Amino acid sequence: MTASSKDPRNKKFDYQEALRDVARSMVRLRKPDRLLKMITRFIDRQFGLHHTTILVHEPSRKRYVFVNSKGIRRVPVGLVKFDADHPLIRWFLMGRRKMPFGQDFLLLSDVKKMQNKAQFRLAANSRSSELTQIQKTMEMLKVELVVPGYFKHDLVGILMLGGKFSGRFFTDQEILFFQTLANDCSMAIKTAEYNNRLTEKNRELEKRLAEIEKLRHKEQRTYYEIIRSLAEEVEAKSPTVFGHVSEVEKLGMMTARELGLDLSGPGKDILSAALLLHDVGKIGIPDQILTKPGQLTDEEWKVMRTHVEKGAKILEPLSDFKKVKEIIMAHHERFDGTGYPKGLKAAEIPIEARVVSVVDSFHAIVSGRCYREGRPIEAAFRELEHCSGTQFDPVVVEAFIRVIRKEIAKGKIDVPAAQS
Ligand SMILES: [Fe+2]
Repeated sequence: MTASSKDPRNKKFDYQEALRDVARSMVRLRKPDRLLKMITRFIDRQFGLHHTTILVHEPSRKRYVFVNSKGIRRVPVGLVKFDADHPLIRWFLMGRRKMPFGQDFLLLSDVKKMQNKAQFRLAANSRSSELTQIQKTMEMLKVELVVPGYFKHDLVGILMLGGKFSGRFFTDQEILFFQTLANDCSMAIKTAEYNNRLTEKNRELEKRLAEIEKLRHKEQRTYYEIIRSLAEEVEAKSPTVFGHVSEVEKLGMMTARELGLDLSGPGKDILSAALLLHDVGKIGIPDQILTKPGQLTDEEWKVMRTHVEKGAKILEPLSDFKKVKEIIMAHHERFDGTGYPKGLKAAEIPIEARVVSVVDSFHAIVSGRCYREGRPIEAAFRELEHCSGTQFDPVVVEAFIRVIRKEIAKGKIDVPAAQS
């Protein structure tokens, strides 16, 4: 094999196969600039031209920019730009059917021929001066062939080709190949532009959604704070239980950790909110029942029990705290199924509600109520153990007593009974 036969340019060129290759690359390459680079390199290697140059429409600035150029006479890209009223651009913008020779490419040789046609000069004087400028541009940039790339009626880009090293003319088949290539690339560019716009729109939408979500979260937070202050108001109605909710929260979190509940994610906030807000529904209980200095009658108990549903209703708008609502609804359920409002039993009761139940009862025993004095901590433990398996979950009772004893040993616990 001789050196010249190794040259790819000497092989018989399969135009159809080349176009199929390009089409396959178009599907693969989503960024038009990479596609254009590949096309420039491909033409440069395959056809042996002085240069291969591509201009692309820049819609935002209504001009055509030189984006790629390869070869010994390449054009400095980025520096040369054609405005939409440049004669060469105007020539191709007028559309194929209106072109003097019905062809949508320009060969330098044809431009020269057209210039020399006196008939043409007389018929279209302005066109003649346009051609003079086109000729000058082509000669200045050492361009032999200009091929436009259209997508529908838009002039998307222009392929400018320098002369062949061999000095031969471009064949009809080659020109047809470049036309198909330019139009295919135009379609790929437009598709990529459309996809990019779509991606950009999606990004904007996602940003807007995130903003809305942030606002919604902020509103929920504000609502949550209002509810918290409501819970404090409920507590303030009975001075003897002041500090109850914050103590219940502290003891409840300790118990949950002792039980090994997952408090790494939102679980911590959910349990904390449930412990703080478990009795928020009491805001809807009449004061004469809530602060009655004595045992409640059956009728009064009926009313008192509605604080569970009332609390859940208050939390209704907090979609972020749906689980909190469930816990509050279940904090007076009993382990043996005799509690209220639904009579849930054992594992049917959310574990967090079983924790609230134990801690709330413990704190009520040691801190006292309107109608009775607080009792010692050991008495409270005995009471919890006595009701373990009936009112309370035995596992929770065990964990609770264990952790409280540890805290007492460390001198860290601060509940009224611990001081008594
Ligand atoms: Fe309650």
